[in-house]
Formats: sequence, C-alpha cells, structure tokens
Amino acid sequence: ARVVVLLSGTGSLCAALLEATDDPGYPADVVAVVSDRDAPGLEHARRRGLPTATCRLRDFPDRAAWDRALADVIAAHHPDLVVSAGFMKIVGPAVLERYEGRLVNTHPALLPAFPGAHAVRDALGAGAEVTGSTVHLVDAGVDTGPVLAQREVPVLPGDDEDRLHERIKAVERTLLMETVARLVTGTTEESPR
Ligand code: GRF
Repeated sequence: ARVVVLLSGTGSLCAALLEATDDPGYPADVVAVVSDRDAPGLEHARRRGLPTATCRLRDFPDRAAWDRALADVIAAHHPDLVVSAGFMKIVGPAVLERYEGRLVNTHPALLPAFPGAHAVRDALGAGAEVTGSTVHLVDAGVDTGPVLAQREVPVLPGDDEDRLHERIKAVERTLLMETVARLVTGTTEESPR
C-alpha cells in the first residue's frame, strides 16, 4: 500500500515508519513525505531518495487555498493511506473531502484526554500518573476522530516534558507501525474506504 507521511518536526515517527517499510514483509511503502515547512524530518525521505514537498501556509492567500494545495500535493502521490506524524496544522475540507477515512494521526496522549498541541505538557501539568499514545482517524475537529488504537505510558517521578515525550514517542512508533499495517491489510473495522 502507498503511504504519504505529513510531518512538521524532527520526523522520528516518520523515520520509524520508513525503517518498518524496509522489511519487504511490511504491507506498506512510504511514497512521499510532505511538510508545512522546511522541517528537519524531510531529511529522512531525502536520504532515501523519496519525493518530498513543502506546502507553506504563508505562500497562499488564505487557509482554503493552502488546504487545496495540500490536497493536490498529497494526491500527486496516489496514496492509499495518509499518516500525519507530528504534522502541526489542522487540515481543512479539501484534504478531508479526499482523504477522510484514510487519513490517520498519532497523538501523544490518551484521547479524549489532552487534545491539542501541548498534550505532553498538559498531562504533566494535570499530574497524570498514566498517559499514552493514540492513533485515530482524522476528522474536521482537533484530535477528535474515531480512535483506532491506544497504548498507556506511565508518567515517572522527575519526568519533564522532554523525557515523558520521548517515552511516549517510543510507544507511538510501535503503535503507529502496527496500526498502519492493520489498516492497509484491512484487518480493522475502520479500514480505509
Ligand atoms: C509526536 O509525539 C506526535 O504525536 C506529536 O508530535 C511528535 C512528533 O515527533 N504530534 P517527531 O517529529 O516524529 O519526532
């Protein structure tokens, strides 16, 4: 199956997905990596000679135009599944029209707890003893789509945001690989349409 990855940051989750696809038995291949900025994570794709694209909001007159351009950039690679792995923009109707149902996001908390861009900081701030990772289908809301998979991660004494986030990311990597494989082999009730 053809996967397009969307990212905005270091791309450690994208790197993990790329490593998983090195196994010929893994049922998906990453065909392109797209970012909303010149993200360091794009390097993981460039190093493998994979196509990359950058779709910057500021290059467009408004958000709707950016959303349409992003949908076109994704469509150019004919994905079966789109994976948002640390993509820090909320996609709009043009992207959702074409990909809702086969666009997944990974979030570093046990949704519906701690949605939004500061999930790890918020879990720490709330004194949570357990948080975790969620893979969900993306809908028009912020981190609100149907949950596909979740896994708990303990919060340990002395954790700061970075240490806790790294512990969550280790779980996210595994959960994302497993969930992508399940989705593309159709072994889950929420398989892509
Ligand atoms: C991940 O924890 C993801 O859930 C969150 O941002 C982080 C991305 O990390 N939205 P990386 O860019 O893959 O290292």
